[in-house]
Amino acid sequence: MSKIKLDQRFSPYQMPSVIIGTTIDDKPNFMLCTWASRVNRTPPIWMVSINRKHLTMNGIRDNGIFSMNFPSADLVEMTDYVGITSGRDADKSSVFKVFYGETKAPMIEECVLNMELEVEEIIERPDHFIILGRSVNTYADQQIMTDNKPDIRKMNQIVYTGAEGQPSYWVVGEKIGDAFSLGKKFK
Ligand SMILES: Cc1cc2nc3c(=O)[nH]c(=O)nc-3n(C[C@H](O)[C@H](O)[C@H](O)COP(=O)(O)O)c2cc1C
Repeated sequence: MSKIKLDQRFSPYQMPSVIIGTTIDDKPNFMLCTWASRVNRTPPIWMVSINRKHLTMNGIRDNGIFSMNFPSADLVEMTDYVGITSGRDADKSSVFKVFYGETKAPMIEECVLNMELEVEEIIERPDHFIILGRSVNTYADQQIMTDNKPDIRKMNQIVYTGAEGQPSYWVVGEKIGDAFSLGKKFK
């Protein structure tokens, strides 16, 4: 077998495309974040990693709340837009239709899944801050449900791969098996 060494920063991860919603000067602001993951099951705690220079950080620090919004493929252009345009340079408050739940975190009506979260902790790293947020409420569009459960096929989420030099958006492919099950035959 021959292996070659890659650039140490190479990442093979497929990441979710999540639009973070915050409030800045009483207006909604949205930014794309792909460094996002669940880190605790009960209670549900999520982490998003946000560059310390982004305007979004001000909203998170000032209000202690934020939203995570999961766009479908049809929103890919606007998703990219809020990833390449800072609220410091353009007003992004009316890019999407906004709704509010229990907290004052702005959520995006066009996104099929939304969460409002309260900040639990901010971990500072050299260029990014890791925000740990506890999900207060999760909302799903009725049309993505099958048998009362969110259906991955209907969600048609935007997947991101950031392999250096070829950042790209994808959609989820075919299901190839049932997890926690396929390996049982080898037990
Ligand atoms: C594909 C893509 C993925 C991104 N992922 C992140 C991320 O995980 N964390 C981050 O801090 N910025 C990320 N960004 C950059 C921000 O979305 C971007 O700088 C945005 O303009 C910040 O907006 P704000 O200044 O209004 O907060 C990403 C941008 C793109 C295009």
